Amino acid sequence: PISGSEEKEKTLAMIKPDGLLGNYTERIKEVIVDYGFSILREITAQLDQDSASSFYAEHSSRSFFPSLINYMTSCKVLNWIFLRIFPMPKTKKIVAFVCVFQAFRQSFDSGPVLVMVLEKENAIADWRSLIGPTDACKAKITHPNSIRAMCGQDSEKNCVHGSDSLLSAQREISFFFEDVSSVTTHRYDMFGSS
Ligand code: PPS
Repeated sequence: PISGSEEKEKTLAMIKPDGLLGNYTERIKEVIVDYGFSILREITAQLDQDSASSFYAEHSSRSFFPSLINYMTSCKVLNWIFLRIFPMPKTKKIVAFVCVFQAFRQSFDSGPVLVMVLEKENAIADWRSLIGPTDACKAKITHPNSIRAMCGQDSEKNCVHGSDSLLSAQREISFFFEDVSSVTTHRYDMFGSS
């Protein structure tokens, strides 16, 4: 079982592929500790299509969903696709090569993620506040001290993820970790949630 105070709140933090590839992990962890969070658990994970789609299910109807899933996973079928292209007629081959090139380029951006359970009082809201707005480009102007301003590029490559509510935190923590005790806090208990 994970040790941690019942009074404190837990949230799920993720360093996304651009954060790991950009070697921002240590800097981000320093900020996490400086702001009073404890890192209770951490794992490195390579998301596949199914797990990424399930993790981001609430956004499945959004136009950016396919791009987000593609970004969060690495493409294992590229070699197989390349083998299919060679027997095609010339025009189809060119179109197919352009598509595969794009996918290939994106697969270089993708990779594993580092998932952490953070704990402190008011962890969910405080972590969201510390990471800054979704669009890292805007964050550089409006929230220059945020993590996304420090390491992110845009709305997709925004370096870090944070649960946006108590329900999300509960769902997302149990998505990656089996044995973390309840994320419910004393504060939420007072309002009868569990
Ligand atoms: S929104 O628009 O308020 O619903 O967006 P938000 O809830 O902040 O974002 C949800 C996750 O979707 C990602 N996202 C995108 N990915 C790719 N392209 C675009 N345009 C885009 N916009 C948002 C965003 O990075 C969020 O991922 P997480 O991991 O939850 O931060």
